[in-house]
This record gives sequence, structure tokens and C-alpha cells, in this order.
Amino acid sequence: MKNINFCTLLIESFISYITDLEKFSKTVLEASLGITQSQIGFIGIIEPGTKALVFKYYTNTIKHLIRKKIVIYPDKNCNYGCTVIDKKMAVYITNKKLYPAHNCIKKCPLLGCPIPVEYFMSLPVILKDKVLGLIFLGNSKRGYTDNDLEHVKKIGKYFAIALERYWLEKEVKKYTQDLERMVEEKVKALKEREMLAIIGQMTLMVAHDLRNPLQAISNYSFLMKEAIKSSSSKIDKKIRKYARAIARNTEYMDKIVKNLQCLGKREAKLEFVNLQVIIGELLKNITKQRRIKIVTDVDNVQTQLDPILITRALSNLILNSIQAMPKGGTLTIRAKQKGSIIEFLVKDTGMGMDEEIKRNLFKPFYTTKAKGMGIGLALTKHVVELHNGTIDVKSQPSKGTKITIKIPAQTEQK
Ligand SMILES: Nc1ncnc2c1ncn2[C@@H]1O[C@H](COP(=O)(O)OP(=O)(O)OP(=O)(O)O)[C@@H](O)[C@H]1O
Ligand SMILES: [Mg+2]
Repeated sequence: MKNINFCTLLIESFISYITDLEKFSKTVLEASLGITQSQIGFIGIIEPGTKALVFKYYTNTIKHLIRKKIVIYPDKNCNYGCTVIDKKMAVYITNKKLYPAHNCIKKCPLLGCPIPVEYFMSLPVILKDKVLGLIFLGNSKRGYTDNDLEHVKKIGKYFAIALERYWLEKEVKKYTQDLERMVEEKVKALKEREMLAIIGQMTLMVAHDLRNPLQAISNYSFLMKEAIKSSSSKIDKKIRKYARAIARNTEYMDKIVKNLQCLGKREAKLEFVNLQVIIGELLKNITKQRRIKIVTDVDNVQTQLDPILITRALSNLILNSIQAMPKGGTLTIRAKQKGSIIEFLVKDTGMGMDEEIKRNLFKPFYTTKAKGMGIGLALTKHVVELHNGTIDVKSQPSKGTKITIKIPAQTEQK
């Protein structure tokens, strides 16, 4: 009796908080073995939402017979398993009689082999009519009595309460983590949006003030190039070099200003444009690289979109692809109507991206380039969203990158 009280106390103390299911199962099994003087035994647990019985703890004597996890339903061939788990009844043999009356089991489907027992006792761990697990005990030298059954049933009851609490706490923890993650994501998205809004305001101011002088420098730079070309007098090599540098840097500044201006846009100004015209114009303005082969496939389709924004988005993708192929390669540009979708594709055979870059590429100001601002893809995503579209990036290091933009086609002229 002393033994029983001790075990009950031990289990009650565990009910207050279980963190280690295995350790707890061990306590339950040891208490049950002690009370019934059994030599072998195991504890099985049914994980919520599954139909699998997982062996959580077992005596060393049957270690070799134990499979880690078994599916328990449906197993109508197993008299004993059926009775304990499906019919929710305890089964035990005493004095070679089996209660309730069933054919004596030769082979235990739970263990997948004959059970090396003379006498055994097995009972379900039940709470609110739901089976949460199973306690199996065997080979008590003195056989099993009704008293043993009552005591182990009591342990099973405590075990069930503790188990349910364990699963509930686990579920609450999971919900809390999910909630935390959701809040974190929302805050992050809000911050990004806020950041874009601030960039947008700054952008419009800066771009507005820079656009005119930049245009003037650009024009003068062009005129200077023309003047050098048509000049009859010999022009110093250095001056030619400086003129080229001015043109190159003006182009770079122009790209930044145009990108910032697009980032500041809150809506797309839709108009009917032909895809071939858009891509044609775009390609005219790309500084061609000798080692890069350009393949295009563009439908002759008229659709509604914001040509300035789409051109900016595509030219950023194209520029990224060119920058990703310093040793040359193939640049594929496609613009096609696929049913109710206009699909743009920019593909390169360049250096590709690793997982870290893929995770961050749409973040404003994320760049891996010495002379990059990291706004090309943030802007592209912004433009795609203004067109209610989607953007998908597939990339493999050293193989290349494929970026697909899909926007709803609005091809009917009203
Ligand atoms: N086609 C590509 N191949 C390989 N890496 C790419 C490609 N496109 C983008 N990336 C990676 O994603 C990063 C972000 O690209 P994004 O266009 O936003 O900025 P950036 O090109 O670095 O600078 P910016 O476009 O402002 O000049 C790049 O720095 C690069 O690491
Ligand atoms: Mg870029």
C-alpha cells in the first residue's frame, strides 16, 4: 500500500507540469511495474491528430521487440489491440484465463511478434472517452488481480490528465509561436511599406530637383560627343576619355533618379501600348555588350499598362542580368499573352543567386554590388504590385536566373 501511495504521489507531482514525455512515461511505467510486480512493460502514446501509437518507454527486456511507431487503426485482426484501443477496455490474464474472454494471443500485432508473457495486463489511457495511449505490463510472477487492475487504472487516469495537459500546452505554444510570427511578419511588412512611403516622398523631391540639371548635363554630354566626332581638329585622347566618363556617369545617375521616381508612384497610369513597341524601345536604350547574345520573343499585342513603370521594371531586370554575365552569356527577353495574363520573362545564364540573396532581393537597399543601390528589384516588385501582378524568381548559383512577371491582360480597346 505504501508503494502505491508513493507512486500516486509521484505521478500527481508530475501532473502539475510535464516537459519531458519520455521521462514522464518512464515514471508511469516504473510505478505500474512496481505495483504489479511485472517484469516487462511498455507505454504507448497516440499523438493527437494521428493514428499512430508511439512507444514512449519500455523495459529493456523487450527493447528488441519494439518498433518506434506503429499505425494502430484499423487493425481489426488484433483482438487484444482492438479491445484495448477500439473498445477502450482493459485486458488481462490471470490464472491462464483471459479477461475479457478472447482467444489467447499468439502474436501481438502491436509489437509485431509473439509476446513473451505468461500473464499480462494491458489497459487504455482514456480521458473523456478518448484513448490517448496504452499501458502494457507482463510477467508478474504472482499473476494479476482485480486489485492490480484498479491501481493501474488509477495511474492511467493521472497519466491521461497529464498527457492531455501536455498536448494542450504544446498546442498553445504552437499557436503562440504562429501568432508571434504573424505579428512579426505584419510589422515587417508595415515597416517596409512605411519605408517605401518615406522613400517615395523623398524621392519625388530629390528627383524633381535633380531631373532638370541632369537632363541638361545629359544633353550637353551628348552634344560634346557629337562635337568631338565631327571636329576637324585633333582632340586629345584624354578629353575623349573624360567625355565618355561623363556620359557613362550621367547615364548611371539618370537610372537612379528614374528608379526613385518610379518608387514614389502610388498608382499605375494605364494606357494601351503594344508589347513589341515597349520592348523595342527598351532594347534601343540598352548598352549592348559584345559577349551577350540577346534572344527576344515578343507578341504583337496591345494591352493596358503603365509604359513608364513597366519599362523601368524590365530595364532593371535586364540590367541585373547583364551585370550577372560579366563573361558573357545569353539574355532571353519574352513578352507574351497567355490567356488572360501578360507574361514577361527575363532570363540569363549568369552567376545566379544563393539562398541568402534570394531571401533578401526584394528588400529596398539590399545589394551585393559595389556600385549598386539595391532598389532595382524593390522597384520592380512595387511596379508589379501597382499592376496587380505577381513576380517569381528562379535562380541557381552559376547557372543563371529567370524572373517571370505576370500581370492581368487588358487587351480590349474600349
Ligand atoms: N539576374 C541576376 N543574377 C544574379 N543576381 C541578381 C540578379 N538580379 C538581382 N540579383 C541580386 O539581387 C541583388 C538586388 O538586386 P537589385 O536590382 O535590387 O539591386 P542592385 O542591382 O544591387 O542595385 P541597383 O539595381 O539599385 O543598381 C543584387 O545586388 C544581386 O545580388
Ligand atoms: Mg539592379
